[in-house]
Amino acid sequence: MLVCRDLPALRTATATLRDAGRRLALVPTMGALHAGHIELVAAARRAADAVAASIFVNPLQFAATEDMSRYPRDEDGDLAKLRAAGCDLVWMPPVDAMYPPGAATVIDVAGPSAGWEGDARPGHFRGVATVCAKLFLQTGAAVAAFGEKDWQQLQVVTRMARDLDIPIRILPVQTVREADGLAMSSRNRFLTDAERATAPRLHAAMMRAAAEILAGASVAASVDTALSGLRGAGFAPDYMALVEAETLRPLDARRGDGPMRLLAAARLGSVRLLDNIAVG
Ligand code: PAF
Repeated sequence: MLVCRDLPALRTATATLRDAGRRLALVPTMGALHAGHIELVAAARRAADAVAASIFVNPLQFAATEDMSRYPRDEDGDLAKLRAAGCDLVWMPPVDAMYPPGAATVIDVAGPSAGWEGDARPGHFRGVATVCAKLFLQTGAAVAAFGEKDWQQLQVVTRMARDLDIPIRILPVQTVREADGLAMSSRNRFLTDAERATAPRLHAAMMRAAAEILAGASVAASVDTALSGLRGAGFAPDYMALVEAETLRPLDARRGDGPMRLLAAARLGSVRLLDNIAVG
């Protein structure tokens, strides 16, 4: 497994793969890898001939209120996991390689960036879209794998690649869950034992609300019941909402005709848990 830490090394490595006729799939990450990331590598491997993972804690996607220094880092552990998963290339740029002094270009994706995480984390999706566009162009990957766990991010990146005619296929990969239903996330490691025991209730509440909605109950009433149950269990929910899967437009009063998603974000102690499920 080749580890590239500057752009010339990355360009040489990707050119060598291209010259050998190998299509590259990219798995963009911020490190602190868990089984969900390894599933992305496996999906990327099935979709292409070689897999590159990027590890870059992107300063541009942290809102002013968020403490980037708290983001977990484990370079040696991450490299060992990627090697074991059969990754061919790891791109680990320093911050000034991604954002050299004077860099002045950012990408704003209207539409899917609005609302939900876009409201909770101002500027977050600008940072995600900008760094992903750079990673796509730097690697020249033909495919990029993204987890459905960050559903809104998946829609933002898909829209951005389509709008900018970047020749890359965005490959959605199903959320990987613990046995009790908790969606895997790098942030779960910050849950206390008691919070970890409570955390799966978020997914359980969403499953119940989705089942009620599908059975014909009012969206607002099902969501309200779920939210008050979560508050009773010690969560501080930010939102739970039924939305159109692609546009993320809310479906408060009526169920949609097309694919729908139930989104939720809730704080438990110091950790903000994010989850979503397909409805129907
Ligand atoms: O999902 C993440 O880990 C990040 O938002 C991503 C896609 C790697 C961009 O920094």
